[in-house]
This record gives sequence, C-alpha cells and structure tokens, in this order.
Amino acid sequence: MPTVFPNASFEKMETPFYFYDTELLRQTLNTVTTLAKKHDYQVHFAVKANANPRILDEVRAAGLGVDCVSGNEVRAALEHGFDAKKIVYAGVGKADWEINLALDADIECFNVESIPEMEVINELACKKGKVADIALRINPNVDAHTHQYITTGLEENKFGIGLWEVEAAAFKAQSLSNINLVGIHFHIGSQITDMGAFLALSTRINELQKWFEANKIHLSVINLGGGLGIDYEHPDQLSIPDFEAYFETFAKHLELREGQKVHFELGRSLVAQCGSLITRVLYVKKGQKKQFAIVDAGMNDLIRPALYHAYHKIENISSDKPTQKYDVVGPVCESSDCFGKEVVLPETSRGDLIAIRSAGAYGEIMASRYNLRNFPGSYFSE
Ligand code: LLP
Repeated sequence: MPTVFPNASFEKMETPFYFYDTELLRQTLNTVTTLAKKHDYQVHFAVKANANPRILDEVRAAGLGVDCVSGNEVRAALEHGFDAKKIVYAGVGKADWEINLALDADIECFNVESIPEMEVINELACKKGKVADIALRINPNVDAHTHQYITTGLEENKFGIGLWEVEAAAFKAQSLSNINLVGIHFHIGSQITDMGAFLALSTRINELQKWFEANKIHLSVINLGGGLGIDYEHPDQLSIPDFEAYFETFAKHLELREGQKVHFELGRSLVAQCGSLITRVLYVKKGQKKQFAIVDAGMNDLIRPALYHAYHKIENISSDKPTQKYDVVGPVCESSDCFGKEVVLPETSRGDLIAIRSAGAYGEIMASRYNLRNFPGSYFSE
C-alpha cells in the first residue's frame, strides 16, 4: 500500500517533521496480529523503536504487549494503558529505581541479562515481599548477518547470559526465593533479512531446551526477541514485511514442549514503513564536481544514515522535472550529516519538500537537540 503524501497540507506545516501513515500502521498491526493468532504466538512491540504517544495508542488498541528497555519505557507503557501483565523488560544495565518501578507495577517478566542482575532483582523483590517472574536472556552466539552495531547475539556482544553460563544461571535462579524462572529470551540483532539466521536461532534453542528438560526445569515462555528486517529500497512495494515467512520459520524449526508459549518483540517491522521524515530544501549549492541539496532536517532528526551508514530512500515530492544527482545533506556542523550521496531526484529547488522514507523506526525516538536544534514535530494522516 503506497503512502500518499498530502502535499497541500504539508505546505502550511513547519518542517522538518515525521509523517505517519496511520492506515498503513493499522494494516501492519492487523496483519501481524492475525498471523500471530494463527500460530498462537504473542507479539510485544519494542517501544525503543518509536514511543510517539499516538503510535503507542495504536499498538495498544491492536492488543499487543510491549517490550521495554528502561524504567521510563515501562512508565510510558503504563501511562498509555498497557496491561502490566503484557510488559516485559530487558536491558543489561537496569538501575535499582527501574527494577523497583517494574516490581511495583507487577510486570509480566524481567528479561535478565546476568547473574549479578538476577541477585539484585531477587533482593529488591524480597524487600517488597514479592516474587518476580524472570526469563534468562541467553546470548546464543548466532550470527544475524546484519550491521555490526545492531548485532546482539554474538559472544563478543555485551548482551545476555553467555552459553557457558546458562546452567549456572538456571540453577542460581532456582535457588533464589524471590524470583521465579518462567522462560528463556533471545534477541540476535536487528534488520535481519536472512531467515537462515532465525533457523540457526531455532536450532540453538532446540539444543538448549534439551538441557532444561533433562534437568526438569519447566519453561513456559520462549521469547524470540525481534529483528525482522524491512525493505528500505522499496518502501511502497513491500510496505508490510513478510511476517508469515518469519513466523513459518519458527513454526517449522522450533521444537516446543507441552504448553510452551512463544513470544516476539518486534520493533522495526511494525513501524518503520509507516513513517517518513519530511523536510524542506533550503538551498541548492552547486560545487565543481557535485551539487548539494541542503535540507532543513539534520542528523539530529534522523541519525541512522550518519550512525550506521543506513540507506533511506529519498524522494522529492514537490517536483516532477527531469532528474539530476544531488548529495542530500543537513545543516548540522558535521560531515556525516548526510542523508544520501548521488541521489537521483527530479530537478530540485529551494522550498521543495523531500520525503526520507522508512523512518518510522529508530527515527523520531533517536532524535536529539545537537547544535541546539529543535526536536522534529510529528503528524499523522488520520
Ligand atoms: N528486543 C530487544 C531486546 C532489542 O534489543 C531490540 C532492539 C528489539 C527487541 C527490537 O528489534 P527490532 O524488531 O526493531 O529489530 N537503532 C538501531 C536498531 C537498534 C535495535 C536495538 N534492539 C537502528 O536504527 O537500526
């Protein structure tokens, strides 16, 4: 479903801003919930991808749970009416106040990333006279074949409990009286387009499950994290990711035990394609070898190209003249403040509107005020 930009109403708006196609968001959420239901899977939305209040409201209305990685994300989820029993909380560095907040709310599950963290949760839960449900976040040492900055499931990454320590962590969990081990959790990385990585994850989980079973440790939840990638090159042709192929991979390869529930924590695949960063051309500067389209959005508004060399499709939505090549750059005082080099655009002039596509995930939420610039605004189609 191609996103339609209401250029006429954009004219009156102050740029830059994020534009969200509400209908596409709803269709995506509807697709994922329908397919998850078919497989009896539960989907949590990874709030880190986008915590815009409207997005959270739409996600809640669609009936999903949430995956949080900070106390403030847990708080935001509660404020937006998510059922605490659908909130899971991961992160390698949970501070005491964050753990306390989640304990007070009686969240569904802590995804615990180390034995020392488990001990602290146990101690804080004990003080409150509570028993906290936890899952062990296991680092499965599976290569996600994605960008090194968004790979999380390799031994060299800081995330999760290493395979070598899983047995000790499981026995430790059983020995602590204020925590209750309910499951195991994984997240191998983000923007994964090779289903082979999820197959490898399934195989690793199957091996681990044998050990838990042999030791009579019952796991009721297998949480597979997120990571499903999207098509940044073709935001309109493939606006809804292939959730079916993704779920099928696990349905085929993951061996479940009686009564086990499968959870997912999807971020990017749910919200990336519905969002575009809309920016206006300030100047076209001609160099001897190239020309620059200088726009009013900068790396502070969308940091992915500068931080990960990420590709985002760039469109001039005001002009239909013959094409030329431009480096599309922002106003921030950094050479990395560049959204794309040698981008083919219709002839571009001052005042034209530019859409930087597939920016609904890790866009607005990663914005900063670097150079004391303002935060970008946001606008929904409905
Ligand atoms: N669960 C956990 C524990 C995670 O750490 C993440 C993402 C997710 C779920 C959601 O993953 P997704 O379905 O969105 O791939 N800023 C980077 C992405 C960082 C992802 C961090 N963790 C980017 O802009 O590409």
